[in-house]
Amino acid sequence: MGNNVPKHIAIIMDGNGRWAKKRLLPRVMGHKQGADALDRLLHAAGGMGVEHITVYAFSTENWKRSEEEVNGVMGILRDGINKYFREYSKSNFRVDSLGDLSRLSPELQADIARLKENSKNGKGLHITIAMNYGGRDELRRAVQNIAREVKEGKLDPDAITEDTITQHLDSYPTPDPELIIRTSGEFRISNFLIWQGAYAEYYITDKLWPDFTPEDLREAILAYQKRDRRFGGRNEGGVWQSG
Ligand code: IPE
Ligand code: IPE
Ligand code: MG
Repeated sequence: MGNNVPKHIAIIMDGNGRWAKKRLLPRVMGHKQGADALDRLLHAAGGMGVEHITVYAFSTENWKRSEEEVNGVMGILRDGINKYFREYSKSNFRVDSLGDLSRLSPELQADIARLKENSKNGKGLHITIAMNYGGRDELRRAVQNIAREVKEGKLDPDAITEDTITQHLDSYPTPDPELIIRTSGEFRISNFLIWQGAYAEYYITDKLWPDFTPEDLREAILAYQKRDRRFGGRNEGGVWQSG
């Protein structure tokens, strides 16, 4: 994969419902297959040189779905978290979360807390699962905390920098993703990492999430490696020009 492998890849795992629909199966079966696809991918990603993977598992908007589907996804999340709890020491994963967990069931919250605590010294792949996550909600909570610090006299409003905001997000201190993948051919970010993804490269594939394989991840990385990232400057003959 060479040395220009993105250190942090974020994934919008979309298309579970369509995968199930194509097979005349209940949507929850699509989510189950999606969880298996994620499992295969996470076991392969470390070997490609990726250090951090953030996956969008449930958005702040996904509560609009039927109770049956929401409960199905929550059950699959809990099974996944517990599977990683059984495996974390063997696979050396470190697991984190993004999003406001307070709306999840107390049981799921406890399982996540236990997995985070127990895996915190893992030296392998750093996995972040976004649950009840919305980029706007994350910013709202960050602004709330910043305002609180200002009110308590701990922070001068004139001293607020972009870094101050970054440091108040759920994702801190994980670096910004260089590459954001979305499956199922949808060209939108659906409230995912809106601050952190400001300069990410986006890769959209038509593959439905349950069909996404480690080989597809490899292809996304190869596509990323062909991109010309400019960050608003100019890249002439490999020399960065700032003027
Ligand atoms: C993504 O798959 C998983 C979640 C949002 C939980 P979808 O369920 O959105 O699948 P489609 O978009 O309906 O195919
Ligand atoms: C984004 O997918 C959320 C997750 C993958 C968890 P959605 O299917 O919810 O997004 P929209 O509705 O297509 O924007
Ligand atoms: Mg969808």
